[in-house]
Amino acid sequence: MLIEWKDKYRTGIAEVDHEHQELVALINALHEEAKKAAEADVEGFFGDLLAAISAHFALEERAMREAAYPEYSAHKRDHEKLLDDLRDIMDLTEEAGAPQADALGAAIDAWFTTHFATFDARLHAMPIARR
Ligand SMILES: [Fe+2]
Ligand SMILES: [Fe+2]
Repeated sequence: MLIEWKDKYRTGIAEVDHEHQELVALINALHEEAKKAAEADVEGFFGDLLAAISAHFALEERAMREAAYPEYSAHKRDHEKLLDDLRDIMDLTEEAGAPQADALGAAIDAWFTTHFATFDARLHAMPIARR
């Protein structure tokens, strides 16, 4: 397993925590698929992952806007960086004609575990978190 869910990732916002757990499962599945090389449906997985991540970011960004959350801009920038990184890895995969399991694993793991544990963990401070 590439990413293991940890309690410290919990934001206290039920929808966000639920989606984070789904994203972790999806990323782990994509990583497993990428390791299988030839027969891997990595592009299909990338499509699913990008869609799930984009929808998830939209949810967080909407909640932050509604709460007039002061860290909104910085948080959104970090989301955009992940999407850029993911697209870069998709391009790498396409150019190489093979899944880049290591690059994918390293980037996603570092970015996600960091983003979860910092920006997302701080969502606790939002009024919406107290619902
Ligand atoms: Fe998130
Ligand atoms: Fe986030």
